Amino acid sequence: MLKPNLNEAKQRNREKILVKTNEYIINDQIKDIGLGKKYFVKTYGCQMNEHDTENIKAILEDMSYEEVDNMEEADLILLNTCAIRENAHNKVFGMIGRIKTLKESKPDIIAGICGCMAQEEKVVDEILKKYRHLDLVFGTHNIINLPNLLSKAITSKEMQVEVLSGQGSVLENIPVKRDSKYKAWVNIMYGCDKFCTYCIVPYTRGKQRSRLPEHIIDEVKELVSKNYQEVTLLGQNVNAYGKDLDLEYTMANLLESVAKTNIPRIRFVTSHPWDFSDEMIDIIAKYDNIMPYIHLPIQSGSNRILKLMGRRYTKEEYLTLFDKIKNKIPNVSVTTDIIVGFPNETEQDFQDTLDIVEYCKYDLAYTFIFSAREGTPAAKMEDNVSLEDKKQRLYKLNERINYYAKENNLKYLGKTVKVLLDKKEKNGLSGYTETMKSVYVDTDHQYLGQIKEVEITDVRTWSLKGKIK
Ligand code: SAH
Ligand code: SF4
Ligand code: F3S
Repeated sequence: MLKPNLNEAKQRNREKILVKTNEYIINDQIKDIGLGKKYFVKTYGCQMNEHDTENIKAILEDMSYEEVDNMEEADLILLNTCAIRENAHNKVFGMIGRIKTLKESKPDIIAGICGCMAQEEKVVDEILKKYRHLDLVFGTHNIINLPNLLSKAITSKEMQVEVLSGQGSVLENIPVKRDSKYKAWVNIMYGCDKFCTYCIVPYTRGKQRSRLPEHIIDEVKELVSKNYQEVTLLGQNVNAYGKDLDLEYTMANLLESVAKTNIPRIRFVTSHPWDFSDEMIDIIAKYDNIMPYIHLPIQSGSNRILKLMGRRYTKEEYLTLFDKIKNKIPNVSVTTDIIVGFPNETEQDFQDTLDIVEYCKYDLAYTFIFSAREGTPAAKMEDNVSLEDKKQRLYKLNERINYYAKENNLKYLGKTVKVLLDKKEKNGLSGYTETMKSVYVDTDHQYLGQIKEVEITDVRTWSLKGKIK
């Protein structure tokens, strides 16, 4: 048994990050373990986790398991979990309860959790104490060891716990079963070293580690050869890409190289304002296939709170960057993340956040009530804002966010925009504009997977409707 360790997870040293290209091996005995058996994976959390699930699925299919989308039919159930806020936790524990009931009638089911919650000491202790019906717990650093762990869990009938807490390495050549034939996630870096005081991610995902440029470019080239239309470059703060490598190679360089592969669309998340360089803005503006869509989390509009959050920028610096982005990238849409009710947040601090929203008029914002995460510095601060106040602030904030979301969408009425129609709907297709607006189109399915010119005929707060030009 290898349990997670918070102190180890916090460590950052100068040890060189290992790039391992041949770590994933699956031997013949393990290859047939899943023959005739079905698996179900449920994913919580961010795009990073969704992409990890694509790796997990491919590994399970290497073991001959077959996917089902109904948990009740599965012989193997995995929950790929998120630890970012308390409610993410609660959802997972609810599912663990449902699995218990299921196992009472089908005791041979193998069930486990992985992902960010598995990296938390307290969660694993709780599972060991109260949820002994689980068979498997593994973390974000050792997905490739799934075949061995699963095979041990099946033969030994004992719970297998293997969670590494170190800084992590960079693993290449892990198989992947992509959810979409048109859009792909591409990791460019793992982990995070920002240690914002409220955030659990640096503890669950390890040190910031960039993939080598050639591995990323090769992956994108392969996607181009398979006719993929869009890649999203993934990392917790992609703008810091390359800073941990001994190369003079930045996110701006990477964006340019990826643009030159001629993949029709490039997106990237998430941008930390601190590392957003002028070169990056220029490159985004220069290449038509880098989408004019920037997710730029502000978290708070109060300098006092930003400092307590450890965000490393002031609201003035943020706004300077915001203006540069808006001025230099034509028709850019900008979205953000905001936390309300951070410890010590006063009405005035909250008002500062509202002022920023009035200024930036975001296309969209993801808004959250602060949730104390054990082991983070903010969890030790006195949380002196009442839940009632937090809820009220969230409500007021969302009201303004929704107002601007609709107002921004209204600008699209009657305009013609390019939409990648990647999803089948009952009577049509849907997809996203370059600026990340969701569009529904009444059409037959012949255009599935294509980028089409669409005239916008109808506008709602969260989506647009249109017809093919
Ligand atoms: N790396 C990204 C954020 C990833 S987490 C960045 O730095 O922008 C996604 C969002 O969840 C964050 O932007 C933040 O708004 C929110 N979040 C993170 N930790 C939180 C916490 N403890 N309570 C409430 N919201 C939180
Ligand atoms: Fe969390 Fe901050 Fe890292 Fe984003 S940059 S993952 S909010 S610590
Ligand atoms: Fe959640 Fe982990 Fe992503 S905590 S938001 S799944 S990095």
